[in-house]
Amino acid sequence: MSKKFLELYEHCKKVSERILEACEKELYFRVISHLDADGIAAASIISSLFFRLGAHFHLRIIQQLREENLREIKESKESIFIFTDLGSGQIGIIEKNLPQDSVLIIDHHPPEKETTILQANPHLCDIDGATEISGSGVAYLVAKNIDESNMDFAPLAVVGALGDRQDKGEQHRLSELNSEIVKDGVNKGILEENTGIRLFGRETRPIAMALEYTTDPFIPGLSGNHGACLKFLTENVKIPLKNNGNWRTISDLSQDEKTKLVSELIQYMLGPGEMSPEEAQSIVGVIYILPKEEKQTPLRDAREYSSLLNACGRMRKPGLGVAICLGDRSEALEEVESVTTDYREKLAGYMDWLIKPGAVTQTEYLQSFHGGKLIDDRIIGTIASIAISSGIISQDKPIFAFAESEDGMVKVSARATDYQVQQGIDLGTALRTAVKEVSSEATAGGHNIAAGAHIPIGTESKLLQILNKIIKSQLVKNSASNESKN
Ligand code: C5P
Ligand code: C5P
Ligand code: ZN
Repeated sequence: MSKKFLELYEHCKKVSERILEACEKELYFRVISHLDADGIAAASIISSLFFRLGAHFHLRIIQQLREENLREIKESKESIFIFTDLGSGQIGIIEKNLPQDSVLIIDHHPPEKETTILQANPHLCDIDGATEISGSGVAYLVAKNIDESNMDFAPLAVVGALGDRQDKGEQHRLSELNSEIVKDGVNKGILEENTGIRLFGRETRPIAMALEYTTDPFIPGLSGNHGACLKFLTENVKIPLKNNGNWRTISDLSQDEKTKLVSELIQYMLGPGEMSPEEAQSIVGVIYILPKEEKQTPLRDAREYSSLLNACGRMRKPGLGVAICLGDRSEALEEVESVTTDYREKLAGYMDWLIKPGAVTQTEYLQSFHGGKLIDDRIIGTIASIAISSGIISQDKPIFAFAESEDGMVKVSARATDYQVQQGIDLGTALRTAVKEVSSEATAGGHNIAAGAHIPIGTESKLLQILNKIIKSQLVKNSASNESKN
């Protein structure tokens, strides 16, 4: 095991020791987590751990950690505050509002500054938190450290890492520390890693529904549109969709039929779908299966599971996502079906809006779009992720997406490609620097490849002007340092 991994394990061990000490003292835990799939998975791992330890706790899932969240909780006496999938980027306000020795941070965001607060964070050990391990992965390591029986949380950590799009290995495989977690799950017989067609519900759903329900990859014109999927399958793929009156699934297809489906899909993705060749090719790739989940449920495929958690968080039902992760398989599973249907339809509507001419504005070093009040500020990040990863918008420049929040601020979501990051672009640093010049009320944070901010309404163009300069200087600095190396 490499030195940096051992170092992170050591930090996780310290966090787990502090958790056990607090349990001994019967202290109350306050867990605060992020509302995306990784945040919900991380919160669920820690919550399940507390159930097993018999600890008393309260869980809160939030979109963004702000000072008012901390003011609300600081009154709670004799508590341990645990931040999962957030916190490292907001150390300043945490230090200002909470006693440092009662805070534990389990995160994978680049730390804002040095602190004496105890953190388990890959960045402190020279491990990349954007690709090597997620927030739920770190939570998993903490739980595993407490007791090896907690290795049954491995699938949840995989769901979280996929939600954060960390499947950057060949054919969309999880790598580095994430692959160690995959191994734990596989060894326990609770996870399988296969290669196949990356559509949701390969073994269970009628083919048209598998196509309609798939949002990762998101296929413009097909994802979320049942009629279009049926038309595509009957007119382009031309394979029988029923056998003896029963709907066939993808796993029922012969090898020739599968090949035909894949080749037609790739043609569609490159043609009317206007997707990038890499994304189109990636329709076949690595799939993570949770074999203990019922075949008919959306929980068997880890990518579908993560999109379901994302839907819960972003459709304002994070508690429902946590219930599912904690094992609720009755009414919660029924309720989540309607939430994910609404989410898919919303995504499809937003994507239709985005592909209209004129929606995206270009400057020399970046591109942007403004969803105003039309796009939900909780979903703007997902739209930006899908748009750039699928190649629906140009992959030459990073994208900055805006949407108005209910609190009168503007939410900014920024996304880059792996190639742009290799060229020196760091969106987290760019946004953190830029917002300081825009307003004292603005906040920002995040990774090199995906970052976000909140800024006052009316400061969008100023922010973009500053960002344009920062991105340019990041690219220039990187190419200068490459030249000096050569
Ligand atoms: O807060 P957290 O780190 O969990 O969120 C990262 C966000 O960035 C996720 O919403 C994820 O989907 C997005 N992301 C992305 N593209 C990447 C990496 C992350 O859109 N390559
Ligand atoms: O909200 P969005 O999905 O665009 O966030 C992208 C990444 O930036 C996430 O990892 C999120 O936690 C982080 N972020 C942050 N501070 C903000 C907004 C987003 O650290 N003010
Ligand atoms: Zn995360």
